[in-house]
Amino acid sequence: MFATMGALGLAPTAAAAGREQPFRAPTASDFHLTGRSAASVLVIGGGIAGLATAYELGKAGYDCTILEARDRTGGRNFTVRGGDTTTDLYGNTQTARFSRGQYLNAGPARLAQWMVTLDYCRELGVPIEVFTNVNADAYLYNEKAGMTAPVRYRAAKADYLGYLSELLAKATDKGALDGELTAADRELLLDFVKDYGQLGSDLTYRGGANGGYTTWPGAAGTPGVLRTPAAGASEVFATQVGRYFAFEFEYDQAMLMFQPVGGMDGIPRALTRAIGPGRIRTGAVVTGITDTGRGVTVTYRQDGRTRTARADYCVAALPPNILAKVPHNLGTGVQSALEAITPSSAGKIGLEYRSRWWETDHRIYGGITETDQDVTHIWHPSYGFHGERGVLVGYYNYGTDADSYARLAPRAREERAVAAGVKIYGAKYRTELASSFSHHWRQTPHLEAAWHSTPGGPDHARYRPLTEPAGRVHFAGDWISYMDAWQHGALTSARRTVTALHTRVLST
Ligand code: ALA
Repeated sequence: MFATMGALGLAPTAAAAGREQPFRAPTASDFHLTGRSAASVLVIGGGIAGLATAYELGKAGYDCTILEARDRTGGRNFTVRGGDTTTDLYGNTQTARFSRGQYLNAGPARLAQWMVTLDYCRELGVPIEVFTNVNADAYLYNEKAGMTAPVRYRAAKADYLGYLSELLAKATDKGALDGELTAADRELLLDFVKDYGQLGSDLTYRGGANGGYTTWPGAAGTPGVLRTPAAGASEVFATQVGRYFAFEFEYDQAMLMFQPVGGMDGIPRALTRAIGPGRIRTGAVVTGITDTGRGVTVTYRQDGRTRTARADYCVAALPPNILAKVPHNLGTGVQSALEAITPSSAGKIGLEYRSRWWETDHRIYGGITETDQDVTHIWHPSYGFHGERGVLVGYYNYGTDADSYARLAPRAREERAVAAGVKIYGAKYRTELASSFSHHWRQTPHLEAAWHSTPGGPDHARYRPLTEPAGRVHFAGDWISYMDAWQHGALTSARRTVTALHTRVLST
């Protein structure tokens, strides 16, 4: 039976180690002629992992109930629109005043093409559009390196590549790399760097069109005026902007990237609809998990009362730092594994503007301005181009930067973020501002983390109590995957857990 399941993709095989197991969703027909039937499952946590678990098990008729502590599903997938209210753990209450059609994806905001998240968008009918992750016309600003004004990404990169290519070309030409290269290699390398760095025939970089123009080319008589490049390699290296260029090619960040049209929460809304809202209990804060040997009993607080739910199995799909605080009888191995995983901070502020001045005045349509300021990243919206208003992400920062903003009152967060933005974009960053909404995950009740650190990776022996079921309790979440902080991690983890649970139900 196990071999048959392996062939069906329902059981792992040694040959598949290191490879994503092909996922086959459970179906009702899996139970035909087996004398068995689908089981009942309590899913703790209505984030992406919990929703995907209930959605996939539901395809085979499992009786799933989701217990969600917050008043909505989605977990860290949270799209903020006008009227949305939050209260953080410091007691700051905010109500978003964004105008109709404007939103902030406070959590996940971009999807790479290879991610399984896109398959769920396709299957669930969630429309997607391009998310501009990298924009040659956005800015780079490193004040601590002496920059007094931002530079365009394309200008900085052209100079960087130009001088880097010049150094490599000249070293090659002088024979400095003869120990590494054949004569044929040398020629090919020179051809490449001349082109890549826009070098002259003397192998010197003097700027070029890739770095942009101060007057753009147009009609006859207007050939354009090239910008003046940085004076030399040492001037370019001193800006330290080179550290931003690897990002555009990262395996999980390279363009094209995508976003659901109208907000990332299109994904949890579609999952919630498909599962059936009647299977989801919101405002249900779990207070105890007991494996009774014959099933699982979960106690929870809802509407000021303690309630009990029972099922054949349980999938714990809540954050590890929250689960670690819930009394359970799953063993000390589970508890130590949970405690070995540490929560991380991140925050965002959405700044709604009365005009899209970054498009009209700066000619920036989407993409990210990178800074060494405590705001870290400033995102230009990848939707609503040429519209009347727009929401910039005024900071997306992590760690101590995020925590120091979180400690401020929302008004002061806005003021500090705006002061940083004015240095880069000028006065309109303040004068056109309509309203703001900030969100910090470490200070968000029932989540208390933006993502998690799992030292050694999820396959380290110390996490085995979480990658294997603890009695009748299975675990799922991005935090126990190789794609922490991505919905892809939550979804693939959920699929792995669904496969394990379904295999177990079919064989016991
Ligand atoms: N996955 C998160 C991001 O793309 C961390 O910013």
